Amino acid sequence: MNWDAFRAYGRSPAVCSLAAILMLALLGPAQADPKNGVIGVISGGNPELGKTDAKTMCIVCHGAAGISPVQGFPDLAGQWPQYLLKQLHDFMSKKRDDPLAKGTMIDAVKTIHGQQEMKDLVAFFGSLPPPKAKPVPTDTQAKALWAAGKSIYFGGIRLTDVPACEACHSTTGAGTPPEFPRLAGQDKTYLVEQLTYFHDGTRANDPNGIMRDIAGRLDKQEILALATFIPTLSGGIRRHSCHIPLTMTAEIEAYVAYQ
Ligand code: HEC
Ligand code: HEC
Repeated sequence: MNWDAFRAYGRSPAVCSLAAILMLALLGPAQADPKNGVIGVISGGNPELGKTDAKTMCIVCHGAAGISPVQGFPDLAGQWPQYLLKQLHDFMSKKRDDPLAKGTMIDAVKTIHGQQEMKDLVAFFGSLPPPKAKPVPTDTQAKALWAAGKSIYFGGIRLTDVPACEACHSTTGAGTPPEFPRLAGQDKTYLVEQLTYFHDGTRANDPNGIMRDIAGRLDKQEILALATFIPTLSGGIRRHSCHIPLTMTAEIEAYVAYQ
């Protein structure tokens, strides 16, 4: 697999970060507040309507603030709406039907009434403040795992050709929209599960098998190390201050039109 194109892709938002810093310097932090920005807006999605729908259909498992009360279930708050939309379509078409999705999301998506409601739901969850960084573990064993995870996140593993996660999921863990999801602050157990599913190939909805290829090269200990480190990432200020147009990608448009 040629990672160079992806690495270049991962790096390009540096320009955006620079613009964000300039914007912060010029406008001050008030304008960089997510409430004033375009964060969480997806073309045609209404977060207010999504909030009402989510109350009856989603928050029992994902929490009213998009932070899941259940260990092992994902936080959706602040996740890129396009990524969330793609996942809902993947659950619906059973392209994503890993063991945890069966009996949870595969059933939950059946309660969504059409494309408009789906866009409203992702606009709502995407507009919520993302999960906060978890504290760095202090006990010796966990700290060693954390350090190993940090090393893989930023440097990859040369011997087994594992690329740095940072290349696509960004330095702060905020992700790179629209394809590369936010990981910062995510639930540790959920991260272990998903990396294990990609490793086994039971989650197979990743474009070009990117994550299956990467996680396939990770062993159990490395997965645990990454899942110990990633929740402690902050997500940074980029997502709050950088204007990245949140329109739907052509691929998702086609998907939605097809449904
Ligand atoms: C019964 C509990 C349950 C309900 C109800 C539920 N979810 Fe989920 N959701 C889950 C679980 C568990 C997962 C992880 C599934 C997996 O492993 O593939 C998940 C995953 C997701 C994901 C993918 C997140 C990611 O980071 O990839 C999205 C998007 C999502 N849910 C949205 C919703 C929406 C919108 C609703 C309401 C219509 C909803 N969920 C209702 C349990 C639930
Ligand atoms: C070449 C780009 C790329 C690299 C490098 C990469 N990822 Fe990913 N990752 C993706 C894409 C694309 C997805 C979304 C897959 C989908 O559409 O379902 C993803 C999804 C994920 C998810 C699932 C998130 C969720 O909410 O369900 C996890 C966890 C993850 N990656 C962890 C990692 C880790 C850990 C590394 C480093 C060892 C890494 N990724 C490196 C592209 C990448």
